[in-house]
Amino acid sequence: MKSSPPSPASPSFSRFERFQGTSGYIASSALVDAVNCALALERPLLVKGEPGTGKTLLARHVAEGLGLPLDAWHIKSTSKAVDGLYVYDTVQRLNDARFGDGNVRDIRSYIRLGPLGRVFTATSRQVLLIDEIDKADLEFPNDILREIDEMRFTVLETGDEVVAIERPMVIITSNNEKELPDAFLRRCVFHFIDFPDVTQMREIVAVHHPNVEKTLLEQVLLKFYWLRDQKELRKRPSTSELIDWITALVRAGIAPERLEAEIPFMGALLKNEQDTRAIESFVARGGKTPKSFGEMGGARR
Ligand SMILES: Nc1ncnc2c1ncn2[C@@H]1O[C@H](COP(=O)(O)OP(=O)(O)O)[C@@H](O)[C@H]1O
Ligand SMILES: [Mg+2]
Repeated sequence: MKSSPPSPASPSFSRFERFQGTSGYIASSALVDAVNCALALERPLLVKGEPGTGKTLLARHVAEGLGLPLDAWHIKSTSKAVDGLYVYDTVQRLNDARFGDGNVRDIRSYIRLGPLGRVFTATSRQVLLIDEIDKADLEFPNDILREIDEMRFTVLETGDEVVAIERPMVIITSNNEKELPDAFLRRCVFHFIDFPDVTQMREIVAVHHPNVEKTLLEQVLLKFYWLRDQKELRKRPSTSELIDWITALVRAGIAPERLEAEIPFMGALLKNEQDTRAIESFVARGGKTPKSFGEMGGARR
């Protein structure tokens, strides 16, 4: 199968809209560029990065930034490519046949469009999020390639062809649990979201907690990045855990001084008992956490 990006003369290229970010999402300039590159090439944007780095949220904000509706397909280990196109509701048809309801001869009324089918048939341009593609089996990415490339598919049961009215902007996320096939990668624009440094993290926190007290925030960030540096942790806390942790600390009125001595509400940050025990025993042994980013090597500033 051969595909080439549209030429600049094609009508869809002149519609190319630019993403400029939104006030609710902190995007690096490289990420903004990747979104715009995908828009210009009319190719899916594949976003990888550790869990909690804002991959799913990006789709919502790209839709918001472009003023387009968002549809989402959350992939599970059992997801099949065909589910994204349509499902033939045989159970409903059987029930209708048994109880004499509905028009069982009209197969079309039992075809339920999936997320790809919905964005293809939508009369206005949409953003489609295909979330956590690496959860599905290895064949899955290749199986959706043709439809995404050609923007059309056939409903086998009726012979109807569904052709996209407007080419959607497709954003695909992966937590990197599985390698993705080369043929699939070739058709995507790729971006890896690096874990935010402290400066970027301050901006992200400000989006969610604009009024958090400065001294508390310093302690919070210090503890958070120190925790992430602890090699024995099985699962390092991510941005989403940090945001939750700050919510808990603020709601409980925790004073910054308390954070100097301990890590309250560790359950918001660490999500397995081995990690919690490792940190608790470190503190119980009198282990010291750094008092400034300078002590941590300064590289995070
Ligand atoms: N760049 C960002 N700007 C604003 N909030 C962010 C950003 N990155 C992460 N977050 C916060 O972290 C949470 C988790 O993000 P999410 O998109 O679910 O991560 P992922 O899909 O990568 O696992 C978001 O709900 C948001 O609160
Ligand atoms: Mg996600």
